[in-house]
Amino acid sequence: MSVLLVGEGREYLVAHGETLETDLGVLEVPEDAAPGETLETHLGTEFDVRALRGPDLFEHFERTGAPMMPRDIGLIVGHTGIAAGDRVLDVGTGTGVLAGYLGRVGASVVTYEQREDFADVARENMALAGVEDAVDVRTGDATETLGELDDDAPFDVLTLDTADASELVGHAPDLLADGGFVAVYSPFVESSKEVVKTARDVGLSEIETLETIQREMDFDDRGSRPSTAGVGHTGYLTFARLV
Ligand SMILES: C[S@@+](CC[C@H](N)C(=O)[O-])C[C@H]1O[C@@H](n2cnc3c(N)ncnc32)[C@H](O)[C@@H]1O
Repeated sequence: MSVLLVGEGREYLVAHGETLETDLGVLEVPEDAAPGETLETHLGTEFDVRALRGPDLFEHFERTGAPMMPRDIGLIVGHTGIAAGDRVLDVGTGTGVLAGYLGRVGASVVTYEQREDFADVARENMALAGVEDAVDVRTGDATETLGELDDDAPFDVLTLDTADASELVGHAPDLLADGGFVAVYSPFVESSKEVVKTARDVGLSEIETLETIQREMDFDDRGSRPSTAGVGHTGYLTFARLV
């Protein structure tokens, strides 16, 4: 498990028992460091100890690729109802932000990452988030190890964030519990179209694709309006259900 150290306008995610070494000094985080405490580096700089929360995973996990953004994760949880006790199959793990969030929600997650080096980083990230018991990071190509999953199925939800997601959607009826959902993140509309086609072909229901757009509001002395900094597009989320 780890804590956030916040001070001097900076934030660091540090595991209990680890040492933070920066230009502000050296600070060993005690095994029992708890939120609300203040710790000091050997140069006297103070850091507040703060508990880790979901958005901190996105900010502070070591990254191996583009992690899913909190707004997309929010939609996945909202549309599939992932809750404590659910069994989730997640492909691919990547940085593990989605898997870490789901572990924190209380779901039991099996997640596949085809690259061994990425899977190693994801395991370390799960330990930092304190969800290493809830999130089983497996190394391997999920489409080639489907046989292994027979022992783990049925899952309540499949979360897919890979280029070959539509292939896995084809196996959703064998992997999902009755009433379970599949949620697919696609960076391009062409891939979501493929996912929708496969979902229809295998008889899934309640199929919908949503574009994630989030507009931040700017408030200043002149008035209030959506930020002109960008359209806030992330990607496409396709949901389907086995009923
Ligand atoms: C965009 S990242 C996933 C990010 C992740 N959802 C997160 O929140 O951090 C996609 C990952 O899937 C892995 N991947 C792609 N196809 C896969 C497959 N068939 N089986 C397992 N992993 C796969 C890639 O190596 C990559 O690390």
